[in-house]
Amino acid sequence: MATSNTPEFDLSKLPDVSDISPETITNRVNAINSLCPNPRQKFIMERLITHLHQVVSETNLTTEEWMTAILFLTRVGQTCTDTRQEFILLSDVIGVSALVDSINHPKVGDSTENTVLGPFFTEDSADIPHGGSIASAKESGTPMFVCGRILDTSGQVIPNAKIETWETDAEGFYDTQYADRQGPDYRGRLKSQQDGSYAFRGIVPVAYPTPGDGPVGDLLKSLGRHQFRPAHLHMMIEAPGFETLITALFFRGDKYLKSDAVFGVKTSLIVDLQDVTSNEEARAKGFESAPFKLLKQDFVLVKNEEAKKARAERAAKTVLDEAKVEG
Ligand code: BEZ
Ligand code: FE
Repeated sequence: MATSNTPEFDLSKLPDVSDISPETITNRVNAINSLCPNPRQKFIMERLITHLHQVVSETNLTTEEWMTAILFLTRVGQTCTDTRQEFILLSDVIGVSALVDSINHPKVGDSTENTVLGPFFTEDSADIPHGGSIASAKESGTPMFVCGRILDTSGQVIPNAKIETWETDAEGFYDTQYADRQGPDYRGRLKSQQDGSYAFRGIVPVAYPTPGDGPVGDLLKSLGRHQFRPAHLHMMIEAPGFETLITALFFRGDKYLKSDAVFGVKTSLIVDLQDVTSNEEARAKGFESAPFKLLKQDFVLVKNEEAKKARAERAAKTVLDEAKVEG
């Protein structure tokens, strides 16, 4: 007799097997899945099956279309490697990553909003001093000085926060996209000062295309969509007792702001750059000469308890009781 690891379930309450049809199949699948011992998994599967079956039904999905979807997902899987995650890219371009991110990081007061992390964060950034440069010595592109304070939602400064920042070079590539990468560049790690201030030098990043040579790129083409993200500066800020803020700043006037391929732009994250033409000011900030762009931006972190409360409040408004998870 064959053995299996499947536990013995009480199947006696399942409906009769003789009535599979478009009208009954959804209930049949949900009924058998309702044996799942994990309530959260059971709930998510029930909603997933219900909505998925509804899409199949209301579109009268053909066998060819079903096979196209299967082959597409197969290619997505086959495109994944240790360094490329095509499934996350798929989640990004259909807005699921942005949705999950927004749900899990509700805005509290005037806190800085989260946005998608993306695939280009690395752990190996160099530590840079207050006011130091994240870009390699021969800076190309438009020099940019970024400064501001790290605050909590009551306006208190947060000293010693760990700040990670990363951006594209002037060609629109992250350092990790170069096969001959020598080490981290256009990225850096710094700490906020005792007065909560931070400052660093970089360049104005530029818009760039998300990877387009795989199945997700083909999907975008077939949808008549472009692959571009508007220019942005990534920031990740951590401090004990606070939710880690993963965000990015976008620049007013960028032509892709309204059509970001991964839906990461939020109005509150669009900033203005100031033109500075004084050589004296440029030298004081560590540049050889003017002009440079100045980006002044404070970041407001949310305490863990505040975030927990905000998530619970959102869950309380959710129509489905089962969706209320602890967090
Ligand atoms: C990024 O901003 O680095 C990014 C985010 C999602 C997909 C591709 C890139
Ligand atoms: Fe990016």
